[in-house]
Amino acid sequence: MDKKIRIGVIGCGGIANGKHMPAEKRNPASEMVAFCDIIEERAIKAREDFGTPDSAVYTDYKELLKDKSIDAVLVLTPNCAHCEITVAALNAGKHVLCEKPMAMNYAEAKKMLEARDKSGKVLTIGYQNRFRPDALYMKARADEGMFGEVYYAEAIAIRRRAVPTWGVFIDQEKQGGGPLIDIGTHALDLTLFMMNNYEPAYCVGKTFHKLNKQTNTGNAWGDWDVEKFTAEDSAFGFVVMKNGAVIYLKSSWALNIADPKEAITTICGDKGGADMLNGLRINTVLGGKQVMITPDLAGASVAFFDGAAGGAPEDLESACFTNAILGKGKLYVTADQAAVVTRILEGIYESEKTGKPYYFD
Ligand SMILES: NC(=O)c1ccc[n+]([C@@H]2O[C@H](COP(=O)([O-])OP(=O)(O)OC[C@H]3O[C@@H](n4cnc5c(N)ncnc54)[C@H](O)[C@@H]3O)[C@@H](O)[C@H]2O)c1
Repeated sequence: MDKKIRIGVIGCGGIANGKHMPAEKRNPASEMVAFCDIIEERAIKAREDFGTPDSAVYTDYKELLKDKSIDAVLVLTPNCAHCEITVAALNAGKHVLCEKPMAMNYAEAKKMLEARDKSGKVLTIGYQNRFRPDALYMKARADEGMFGEVYYAEAIAIRRRAVPTWGVFIDQEKQGGGPLIDIGTHALDLTLFMMNNYEPAYCVGKTFHKLNKQTNTGNAWGDWDVEKFTAEDSAFGFVVMKNGAVIYLKSSWALNIADPKEAITTICGDKGGADMLNGLRINTVLGGKQVMITPDLAGASVAFFDGAAGGAPEDLESACFTNAILGKGKLYVTADQAAVVTRILEGIYESEKTGKPYYFD
């Protein structure tokens, strides 16, 4: 058995406890040896729940990075700290899995790519939706050419009333935006991945602050604080790619819509199409008739990633990261792809600011 990869966790809040630390604990290739949070109790609790007996607690990530025995870190802080901590970690010789969105803007994402290239370390971003059975199946069919040339797509991240009220999600300054950068990012990532198209030409975007000052909201996580809700509540974008393909990106935390859908994509090509609107549905024409294929994905345990066959998306994500570190496999989510997601989101926000299309070159 190889030596275990020694992991430091930076940011011990919701996503650390809900996704990464349980997944890392199940990953036989790694162990969590250090925990950092600016709220010390959170790091202490994380250590108790997930750490090795001799694991350490920090409140300053720079101290954690000084530990030369740590091989890799998980950057699980609010968006405003992703770039700074990731760059520092790469410069300290650590491999990094950073949560989504990669960064607040494209300039930050580029700094992260530069630091990765300089360090030669692994950098990946937490787009775990790519590892869902429906997404894995759809991607495999897309790569086989089943859909042909994809020229229309929808990236969908629409909630009726589910504004995240914990942490700093609704704070424009700390997150860089609202639902677009928070959940639109997942839908756009899935869409670009299925299209295998990372060359945007221009986009038009509109953001809305229509519901964020309302009270008595019926929100899934209780009423939000209207003073703190400075990010947009909805954002919509239309992206034109260099090859002429278009993407309609819809995102909202709160919209008066009857049928919300999140972290899904619809793609339409010249040979067929696929959507995730009601499970995975593939539409094409067979024998002169329109057909709809609805794959049975239950228990689809194909060993896509060594060591995590058929696992939950977060287990596949974790295995993919540690396999890449060990040289046993390629990253499934590259930072270069994630940087393009960030670039397009920035374009949509910029278009809103100027009232004009945003050109990417
Ligand atoms: N992949 C997903 O589906 C998904 C889901 C939720 C959140 N996220 C992402 O995860 C990140 C964190 O979200 P969350 O829900 O866990 O938020 P959270 O507020 O619950 O947790 C963030 C934690 O980071 C700590 N922190 C803040 N600044 C820090 C710093 N400089 N050093 C160390 N710790 C610091 C906070 O004290 C807090 O405990 C965000 O970027 C968010 O977009 C991803």
